[in-house]
Amino acid sequence: KQKFILDTDPGIDDALAIALACRHADLELLGVCAVAGNALLSCTYPNAKNIMKLCGRADVPVLRGHDAPLEKKLRCGDDAHGINGLDGYEFLDQPKLPETEEAVNFMIDMVMRYPHEVTIVAIGPFTNVAAAIQQEEQFASHVKRILVMGGAVNVPGNVSAVAEFNVMSDPLAAQIIVNSGIDVSFIPLDITLQTRLKPEDLAEICENDHPVSNFLNAVLKHRFEVLEARGELGYPMHDPLTIGALIDPSLIQYEDYFMQIETTQGALAEGMCVLDRRREAPKPNVHVGVGVDSDRFLTLYKETIRGY
Ligand code: BDR
Ligand code: CA
Repeated sequence: KQKFILDTDPGIDDALAIALACRHADLELLGVCAVAGNALLSCTYPNAKNIMKLCGRADVPVLRGHDAPLEKKLRCGDDAHGINGLDGYEFLDQPKLPETEEAVNFMIDMVMRYPHEVTIVAIGPFTNVAAAIQQEEQFASHVKRILVMGGAVNVPGNVSAVAEFNVMSDPLAAQIIVNSGIDVSFIPLDITLQTRLKPEDLAEICENDHPVSNFLNAVLKHRFEVLEARGELGYPMHDPLTIGALIDPSLIQYEDYFMQIETTQGALAEGMCVLDRRREAPKPNVHVGVGVDSDRFLTLYKETIRGY
């Protein structure tokens, strides 16, 4: 089983990703770190806790992470995730936010306890992960790898002409990660936008009439309407595909590049992933997902969730 820590900002597609991460037999989820992003931490933390409980994994620790990016102001993704990050979906319990940050020490402890065994999967802004790299000198040499949902490489961004939400939320954190010397893989918009859950896929999932699928149905319903009004068919599986990439690496085709992130605040290209494609480019520092077997992933997704 693959040991991993999930760093997340739930978030509708984060919720879909957590449901997959909790259920798949090949994965050993050590902990869930909540970060501010799609919504304030005061929402993403209780959301993460509630979703874990709903998925039958209340035994897995959920840790409070950073409530703001390293050096810029938080800008939540309300357009895409509505109020509270889950389009207004309210759980009965509202677990209290711990008073202090605890995710960074948790990540460091796990990575040092299981050297070269722990993968960090980050599907929100990369603030917690970057803070762990900065805080513990040995983190980079002891972590197995980092897998992130982020970036737009050959397609337009989703929060500016060139930038994707997770990278744009904390470009400095992204830059720290790509320059850390760690084995880093990016699952960018290029392939997540090609991988969409259609209403009929959701209907198939919901045949099991389980609280998890009913919850996913509730948070996605309105999203499908919004997307349809915009002429888009299906919900992009940004974060779930990243879990897919962990479960089955053969779903993704990667290319290796030397990549840097534009960190200048307010600049036209802030948050852009700049690939150096020149022949004289420095040695690659990231694997970038450029191709995906979307159908195979969607089958894996549906089968796993139907297994609840
Ligand atoms: C990413 O941004 C968030 O809105 C989603 O949860 C996903 O992690 C897509 O750009
Ligand atoms: Ca996310």
